[in-house]
Amino acid sequence: MTSPSRLTIRCARRGDSAALARLHIASWRAAYRGLLPQRYLDELSHTAWERTWSNRLASSEIHVIVAEEADIIGFVSFGASRDRDAAPRTGEIYSIYLQPGQWRKGIGTQLHAEAVELLTGSEFVEATLWVLSTNISAREFYHRRGWSHDGCTKTNSRGGTEIIQVRYRKRLADAHEKKPLASGST
Ligand SMILES: CC(C)(COP(=O)(O)OP(=O)(O)OC[C@H]1O[C@@H](n2cnc3c(N)ncnc32)[C@H](O)[C@@H]1OP(=O)(O)O)[C@@H](O)C(=O)NCCC(=O)NCCS
Repeated sequence: MTSPSRLTIRCARRGDSAALARLHIASWRAAYRGLLPQRYLDELSHTAWERTWSNRLASSEIHVIVAEEADIIGFVSFGASRDRDAAPRTGEIYSIYLQPGQWRKGIGTQLHAEAVELLTGSEFVEATLWVLSTNISAREFYHRRGWSHDGCTKTNSRGGTEIIQVRYRKRLADAHEKKPLASGST
């Protein structure tokens, strides 16, 4: 899982929660500036996000792959679909975020490919993900990697502002070989 460069792609470990929280908040602040209320972004709490990451990394249901140079600079998390209307064997990419300054260098493509490969090699025959409707660059990223909007949307509130998320779907290669998701991944 290591590329020829100094970039390492590996499964997340329990001790990564602080680094993941830091990265996740920095990426949110950069990606969602102008899309979510500024005050909401300014007030994102590292303590709360680190706790959330600790719980995620302790879960056997959530799989997290990180891209690391000297520090962790990106991650993708995935597992079974959380949607109530999901057909059996539907996976989901829960989130994919890179450190600002690391975008558009091909790292997201590598993380996405790892997640798709691991989902495909498990019991999943298709996968979905949710993306903010106004996150045009992410939507383009997914579109160019074979995902398409399946017509489903949902509305939530963030910092008192209503946001719309759209669901993308991708058919995975038929997985005849069933193997467990990345052993040791959390
Ligand atoms: C969305 C995200 C994960 C994509 O990862 P990324 O590493 O930036 O994307 P990549 O570099 O792999 O690919 C993006 C495009 O940049 C191109 N690219 C790659 N290296 C490049 C470079 N050096 N210069 C210019 N373009 C480049 C790729 O070819 C690709 O274009 P394509 O779609 O035509 O193939 C990342 O930009 C990110 O974290 N964004 C903010 C958070 C976010 O929106 N996450 C999604 C939430 S749903």
